[in-house]
Amino acid sequence: MNYTVMMPAAGSGTRMGAGHNKLFLELEGQTILAHTLSVFERDPWCEGIILAVKESERSKIEQIIKRAQITKVKSLPEGGTERQHSVAACLAAHKTRGIVLVHDAARPFIAQHVIHKLADSAYEFGAAVAGVKVKDTMKYVKDGIIEETADRERLWVIQTPQAFRYELLEQASRNAERAGFLGTDEAMLVEHDGKEVRIVESTYDNIKMTTPEDLAYGGYLLKKRLEETV
Ligand code: CTP
Ligand code: MG
Repeated sequence: MNYTVMMPAAGSGTRMGAGHNKLFLELEGQTILAHTLSVFERDPWCEGIILAVKESERSKIEQIIKRAQITKVKSLPEGGTERQHSVAACLAAHKTRGIVLVHDAARPFIAQHVIHKLADSAYEFGAAVAGVKVKDTMKYVKDGIIEETADRERLWVIQTPQAFRYELLEQASRNAERAGFLGTDEAMLVEHDGKEVRIVESTYDNIKMTTPEDLAYGGYLLKKRLEETV
């Protein structure tokens, strides 16, 4: 199923500590942002990219798009102070009857087969998000004391992309705004609306570039992939 991707790129990268937006850091000679955009540029199912940016970074991002020969960016709305606001700006900039994916610009390693399963699942069921099963034992802890061991079978680590029928996410986003509800992902807004969200099993290497250690692992993943394609 074809889709449009909404990509929030208007963060500050505080935890990366680079002193500027982490999306401008390079892996194998290309910015993280260019790597993530390229995944969707190459995907024949992707009909367009809506990228939320900071006003002060607009011209730099336009240059990155041009240099990486990305042709699918349809608009660059101004992002907001929270990620949720940046996604809302993307939704306002592109109204559609179709499927939308929300994907962090900071996750360059998403696999195409996962994207496709998500788009199909959202078309069929309305909402689907990428996730992987928890590998470690998880416990609830309060004041340094274990309260309970969680049932690992029911625990998933949630990633992006998160895929939706546009009107379902748009409505959830508007309702959240009205209620002053701030979620940490789009699924939370849709759950808050009382709707079902499906899980699509993703890959463990779909990591988000968040702290400096992620860069080293990201560099390794990229080298491995380049070797596999030659
Ligand atoms: N993002 C955004 N608008 C915001 C905050 C985040 O568009 N107000 C984007 C980031 O650019 C990133 C994605 O949302 O692509 C995931 O957010 P995160 O990894 O938290 O990035 P930052 O917010 O930039 O990093 P930090 O939280 O460490 O400051
Ligand atoms: Mg953040």
